[in-house]
Amino acid sequence: MSIVSAPIPSVHSIAELRRRVGSWRARGERIGFVPTMGALHEGHFSLVDEARRRADRVVVSVFVNPAQFGPSEDFDKYPRTLEADVEKLASARVDLCFAPSVEDVYPPGFATSVKVGGPAETDLEDRFRPTHFAGVAVVVAKLLNQAAADVAVFGEKDYQQLLIIRRLARDLDISTEIVGAPTLRESDGLAMSSRNIYLSKEERAAAPALYRALTKAARLIGEGEPIGHVMGEAREDVAAAGFAIDYLEARHAETLARIARRQEGPVRLLVAARIGTTRLIDNIAV
Ligand code: PAF
Repeated sequence: MSIVSAPIPSVHSIAELRRRVGSWRARGERIGFVPTMGALHEGHFSLVDEARRRADRVVVSVFVNPAQFGPSEDFDKYPRTLEADVEKLASARVDLCFAPSVEDVYPPGFATSVKVGGPAETDLEDRFRPTHFAGVAVVVAKLLNQAAADVAVFGEKDYQQLLIIRRLARDLDISTEIVGAPTLRESDGLAMSSRNIYLSKEERAAAPALYRALTKAARLIGEGEPIGHVMGEAREDVAAAGFAIDYLEARHAETLARIARRQEGPVRLLVAARIGTTRLIDNIAV
């Protein structure tokens, strides 16, 4: 079934998605794809802009994927704003919104899982959300297969996810090029995220401490300070701002392996921390 809702087409079935993408492809057009879970904000639109730069047509999927939420996570309360999302996509000159139902994506009898290793087994998000990346991997493999785009854009904000998706595409011979796009930030440095709406006024005021700690640590490591010492101080700064830290670490930017010295490779600093009931993640390059 497909519903054409002005001002841009919004399709719900995989068959209709394939039909539309197929007709563009038959005309020799290049297809860009931005998978999302909706509740779209400027950060998503920077991914759309990146896709637009690299393709003639841009498809955005909106699907809150139950498989990537743990039993005690926020699947039920995750913001669902499809109508507003479609309007925003129209203003961003997106060509098609693909918004499948859970039954479209996981029909009765669905029984396949995707086991991801490498960057998915590095004791970062995977330690705190043990089923998360398997859920991401299965839906991303399906979405990439369904959209059959030339290029798909994912945010660096979910840095571990980006590395896992690159690995997944390579390992499963998915021919879509995977592109990472930089994190968009509020003026005080807080990384844009659909989950920021959960923050109370006080928590929102405290939240930029994460980015402040990351940028300070990146500067000090860049100046040659020992990583262990710098990261210890960064943890103290983040805790002092009221966060409970899940991890705040310096890792190899390509493998996410632990790193003790800057010379061991390109360094990425990654944090996940909770304030009140909200869990925020962020990362930056050194
Ligand atoms: O990053 C997200 O929004 C999601 O994890 C993704 C890639 C759309 C898969 O559901």
